[in-house]
Amino acid sequence: MTPNSQLFQDLSSVLYDEAQLAAAVKALGERITQDYQGKSPLMICILKGASLFFTDLIRQIDLPLTIEFMAISSYGASTVSSGEVRMIKDLDRPIKGRDVLIVEDIVDSGMTLSYLTRLLHSRGANSLKLVSLLDKPSRRTVPLTVDYSCFQIPDAFVVGYGLDYDEKYRNLPVVGILDPKVYS
Ligand code: IMP
Ligand code: MG
Repeated sequence: MTPNSQLFQDLSSVLYDEAQLAAAVKALGERITQDYQGKSPLMICILKGASLFFTDLIRQIDLPLTIEFMAISSYGASTVSSGEVRMIKDLDRPIKGRDVLIVEDIVDSGMTLSYLTRLLHSRGANSLKLVSLLDKPSRRTVPLTVDYSCFQIPDAFVVGYGLDYDEKYRNLPVVGILDPKVYS
């Protein structure tokens, strides 16, 4: 994909290019590898937004980890959360006694992860930590701290590297701010 492509044209700016994303994901993978020495963590990918970040991240973690996928919906075709969190796909196996890392694309209001944290704690995980590519701390409506994140960003609607607007732009290889003319 070249910067002339329509997907790139719809961005008002690029926040992180491919090299910056790869470097941040590698550094995060190394941190998790150190912090989970001797353990076999269960990494849970929250579909669909975290999928690109997730597949890159797990290849940077040198541990005998296992993976699971979960799908949650809270947005629809909007740039503002509906505030309603719905489970679309649950885990395939029990997580009792596991050291769980939930992997998200972005934490905004915090509602999605606060819902998931409560749910997975109730299923008896040994430990539970939150991983997110991006964090928008200024947007929190519920108290929630991300344990591992690559970048903190200001309050702007971003797309690319898995993040969508109305299901599009996930395949952009960069993270950028979506030009408001696209959705207003
Ligand atoms: P929260 O429940 O408000 O924290 O929202 C988390 C979810 O909202 C993320 O997993 C994304 O799917 C979506 N989201 C929040 N901010 C953005 C954004 O700037 N771009 C694309 N999706 C976003
Ligand atoms: Mg998402």
